[in-house]
Amino acid sequence: MKFFVDTAEIDAIAELNELGMVDGVTTNPSLIKKSGRDIIEVTKEICDLVDGPVSAEVTAVDAETMIAEGRKLVEIAENIAVKVPLTWDGLKACKTLTDDGYMVNVTLCFSANQALLAAKAGASFISPFIGRLDDINLDGMELIEDIRTIYDNYGFDTEILAASIRTVNHVLDSARLGADVITAPPGVIKSLINHPLTDKGLAQFLADIKAADIKIL
Ligand code: E4P
Repeated sequence: MKFFVDTAEIDAIAELNELGMVDGVTTNPSLIKKSGRDIIEVTKEICDLVDGPVSAEVTAVDAETMIAEGRKLVEIAENIAVKVPLTWDGLKACKTLTDDGYMVNVTLCFSANQALLAAKAGASFISPFIGRLDDINLDGMELIEDIRTIYDNYGFDTEILAASIRTVNHVLDSARLGADVITAPPGVIKSLINHPLTDKGLAQFLADIKAADIKIL
């Protein structure tokens, strides 16, 4: 399973990238706003840092402008995935840009039927938003499961990029259900390591190392 980091914060990406935990990055207008940076500049910096796909989202709502924006974004680097919303205009932009050989991430997916449309439009990635469904008392994981089944039934190669991940259990469940990729904030990825028994076990080993004066170097 691939890990994408859902942020436009360079330091956070660099920290996880050094550990080999970053297979790609996703950004969106809210994350760009939070970074306080110019979208082109910060996206270029991210692309210089990370080898895998870096999603950069269009700002337009009409297909023609989305396509023009997409063509500008892909000039930043070869690993740009143009992110378009799940609207008919977004799907039209997806079809055109993927036909041209570019990666496209179709975002704001909240139903399996939407995911089916995105796959038919040639999307490289579909981004179902788990957390936002959970927020309104629906089941985000059920959506991942349905999309996995549908894509496997028909052999679509669009990758399922589980997005809007808020908890470590979202990561675990996405892995269990066969999502190809998760994109999560750096804090969630870092929390995956936490276990009290690891801390407790290490404390005991350290106490014994001290008591027995065990030395290797
Ligand atoms: C990723 O592509 C999405 O933009 C992101 O995961 C949305 O997460 P949020 O619902 O926590 O804003």
